[in-house]
Amino acid sequence: MLKFTPDTNVLVLTGAGISAESGIRTFRDSGGLWENHRVEDVATPEAFNSNPVKVWEFYRQRYQDSISSKPNPAHFALVKLEQFLGDNFLLVTQNVDCLHIKAGSKRVLEMHGSLANCICTKCHSKLAIKDIDLTQPIPLCPFCNGFLRPDIVWFGEIPHYLSIIDDALRKCSVFIIVGTSGVVYPAAGFVLTAKLMGAKTIAINLEKPDNLAYIDEFYQGKSGEILPGLVAMWIGE
Ligand code: OAD
Repeated sequence: MLKFTPDTNVLVLTGAGISAESGIRTFRDSGGLWENHRVEDVATPEAFNSNPVKVWEFYRQRYQDSISSKPNPAHFALVKLEQFLGDNFLLVTQNVDCLHIKAGSKRVLEMHGSLANCICTKCHSKLAIKDIDLTQPIPLCPFCNGFLRPDIVWFGEIPHYLSIIDDALRKCSVFIIVGTSGVVYPAAGFVLTAKLMGAKTIAINLEKPDNLAYIDEFYQGKSGEILPGLVAMWIGE
């Protein structure tokens, strides 16, 4: 049975599935966001250039969903794991819903951006979304009047923190994936790097992820039900 000590270096990657039990819709499950919206219409720079009103409608709703949702036991289990491991823990999330931060995670990298912020397309100022007038069809920058865009990494853009993540993948001894389908790169390929560098790889997911071939231990089910027990076992509680 796997046991962690405070010296075990653990890297965790989360996706939309970890927030499903908080009421946030995933992307590719039945009833997921990409069932009713085309990625090309709402989640690309081209979509924003051609129809910013529609893109803002989509992200305004995502923002409302995120502020009204609460972290679930899976988010809190990762906080507990971080408290046990300290600097030997790093959490990389593809989620933009802020729920890890709300739960209390500190060492978190939001590689696909965050719904909490927006960026001016003209002067590049970064603003907290809570401070802008979201009732405008296209929110405007208070400094230069340029169009604001959500601080989200869209398809065709480069995710944040890739070099830090690459270093972390090379030094971790355990790599844990929670709630991600394993189809969107580069995140879907992280497991391969970790495994090739000698890490033990673990996944907790409702369905079998696409990158299952690189997983040493797979726990199938809801992360809010499974992860708290696993963390307690790993840290010897
Ligand atoms: P997906 O919607 O592709 O996958 C969610 C995964 O979570 C699926 O494999 C589900 O089986 C699993 N799942 C659902 N409920 C769960 C639960 N309660 N517990 C555990 N697992 C559960 O979401 P992501 O993999 O996060 O990017 O998608 C990756 C990226 O694609 C997103 O960051 C987003 C999206 O397009 C952008 O918008 C740039």
